[in-house]
Amino acid sequence: MTPLERANQYQDGHRIKKEEKPVFHVTPPVGWMNDPNGFSVYQGKVHLFYQYHPYSEEWGPMHWGHCISDDFIDWKELPAALAPDQEYDAAGCFSGSAVETADGRQALVYTGVKETQREDGTKEVLQQQCLATGDGICYNKVKENPIISCGQLPDGFSKEDFRDPKVWKEGERYYLVAGSRNKQGNGQVVLFTSENLTDWKYVSVLADNQGRYGTMWECPDFFQMGNKHVLLVSPMDMQADGKEFHNGNQSIALIGNYDRKTFRLAKEQVVLLDYGTDFYATQTLQTKNGRRIMIAWMQSWDMIIQPASQRWNGMMTVPRELTLKDGVLYQNPVRELEKYRTDPVLCSNREISGTCMVPGVQGRVLDLTLEILGGDFKQFSIQFAKDETHFIQFCYQRANQKIEYDRTYSGMVRDVVCQRSMPVKKPEKTLKLRLILDIFSAELFINDGAQAFSSIYFTPPSAQDIVFTCDGKALVNIEKYKIALN
Ligand code: FRU
Repeated sequence: MTPLERANQYQDGHRIKKEEKPVFHVTPPVGWMNDPNGFSVYQGKVHLFYQYHPYSEEWGPMHWGHCISDDFIDWKELPAALAPDQEYDAAGCFSGSAVETADGRQALVYTGVKETQREDGTKEVLQQQCLATGDGICYNKVKENPIISCGQLPDGFSKEDFRDPKVWKEGERYYLVAGSRNKQGNGQVVLFTSENLTDWKYVSVLADNQGRYGTMWECPDFFQMGNKHVLLVSPMDMQADGKEFHNGNQSIALIGNYDRKTFRLAKEQVVLLDYGTDFYATQTLQTKNGRRIMIAWMQSWDMIIQPASQRWNGMMTVPRELTLKDGVLYQNPVRELEKYRTDPVLCSNREISGTCMVPGVQGRVLDLTLEILGGDFKQFSIQFAKDETHFIQFCYQRANQKIEYDRTYSGMVRDVVCQRSMPVKKPEKTLKLRLILDIFSAELFINDGAQAFSSIYFTPPSAQDIVFTCDGKALVNIEKYKIALN
């Protein structure tokens, strides 16, 4: 049996029951998942691959898991697509992306990791870019692999940190960006080009971290939005900066102008993509009608949390549609989610004072919009996934325009970050909060997606209450739907 057949046999024999997992967020069939990979539309279906280790709830030799959807919300698990089974990827098939070949096949471009022992006993790690092509279900690694070897990098660039290729087609050419480190050890994104997906030429350093935005840059993605270009990267080891960036791994967007002569991005601004505790390794696709959809791994490398009894670990965010307006990168759940809304509860101009529940507003799988229209108050909070001993909370501090998050009482008694606060960056007359819950996660979209906050938690699924508290009087509109897949 090949390593891939073995992984798929294991997956089929140990598949976790649907009832034990989120409803519409992608999770692994069994075992461990991290980064989204190969997020693409191929033959009319949305494909999502991901970093996958079926055999345990921990990171291990990386495979590519695979699922498909017609609409980004209802996903079907497929057999794993790649396993580490060649000399050049024996230590793992790391993150990468997908694109269609000239003859209509689906190409998966990924990082093959190879580890060898040097004579002095130390380990040599090589990360090189590899290609597999297939029909949407089965993939074959090409004989030309690795298609970009470390030897093709300019002198001094790291051979150990050269990963996560994101490939796209522009005119007749393919382009690829990958994470890399320069001579000084700083993170950067390198650009390559090819006519046929197997012969690649180094082009440029598209952008670098300038010693400021973390160290190694992982999982780059690069695309045009209006007359600007956006580079998404996930830096490791970021230093916090007020409430804008936090310590550790996070995903940021560099927005600016792309100079097609020098193949460099001149950045005008750098923004954090998500203020939450669990969000990393973004990847996007573009739909036929031009929508740019982003997905991310909803977890943090420094806080791998889950109940001990759970046989799966890791989930994706809801796919989010990106738009760039007046320099603000908005993100909102894909509009397809709205098809799955049921049981509407709509209240307008309702006064909230003290602590209250609103009839029909409870549950763990839902889409809730709360618009605070005004009133006389200092602080307004919403607690959810709540029972007598557990709750998760967002609290709006009006005077200093902050939203504070608290998952201290989630039932997870590990010493992980439980509280985080974010500034409301562009306060509007009213505050609009859209909260997407799916059993173990909350994604908050602020003022039509101008900011987002994602976090996971594990209060018992029976904790279903939602409670509002206001220290004065607030006038609100509430729009709440259950999300149901059949
Ligand atoms: C990001 C990352 C990638 C790498 C993958 C390995 O989370 O570290 O850089 O390809 O995970 O699983």
